[in-house]
Amino acid sequence: MLFIHGFPLDRTIWRHQLESLTGQSLIAPDLRGMGQSDAPDLGYSMSTYAEDLVALLDALGVGQVVLCGLSLGGYVAFEFLRRWRARVRGLILMDTRPEADSAEGRRARDALIGRVREQGAIAAAEAMLPRFFTAQVSPEIIEQVRMMILRTPVPGLVGALSAMRERPDSTPLLETLIGLPTLVLVGAEDMITPPAIAQGIAMAIPGARLMEIPGAGHLPCVEQPVPTTRAILKFLQSLV
Ligand code: MLT
Repeated sequence: MLFIHGFPLDRTIWRHQLESLTGQSLIAPDLRGMGQSDAPDLGYSMSTYAEDLVALLDALGVGQVVLCGLSLGGYVAFEFLRRWRARVRGLILMDTRPEADSAEGRRARDALIGRVREQGAIAAAEAMLPRFFTAQVSPEIIEQVRMMILRTPVPGLVGALSAMRERPDSTPLLETLIGLPTLVLVGAEDMITPPAIAQGIAMAIPGARLMEIPGAGHLPCVEQPVPTTRAILKFLQSLV
């Protein structure tokens, strides 16, 4: 199973899943520019993120995977599917959206790129943190995610924001995923990619299942790790 994290985060958002899904073969890399991966000045796009992942799988000698992408990770999963559909055995889309950015969304990306260049990662933390969680989230989780964002190098943040700004519309892909076992997961209180978007994805992918995680916002794997891991495990078991 290949886990693809969201923006501006890193592989540690999957900590509970990596610790709990014992007996499974799990791969959770940091995307370029985030976590402990290199952060080159250039080379950020959905294509290069997906190419990096396929190169990693090739290096590990892994053929087929179940993809699990959260938000930006979902955008990368869509690109991976466009190019390497035969290597995908199953799909979990978590708190993501198929559409490209709107004109307004692009202006917001540009504004955040400007603030990140001027102020550093703190600008990304201030933009994202207030929208990530439910009101009930623990201060420890907020702090853990704040530190994760603050560790992210500026070229990685700027690169991811421009890659998301330029990403294609993946809506036409969805109906082509017929025959691919798919689970669409969403935090019931996600205000970035609300449940209505997940419902739309689940309706568009033939046979896809939908599950809402109560008490979670945009990062159910972090805010409600136990039910999220349980849902992933159930899905994995259904593939055998
Ligand atoms: C994410 O969580 O990866 C981001 O919220 C995605 C986005 O900004 O489009």
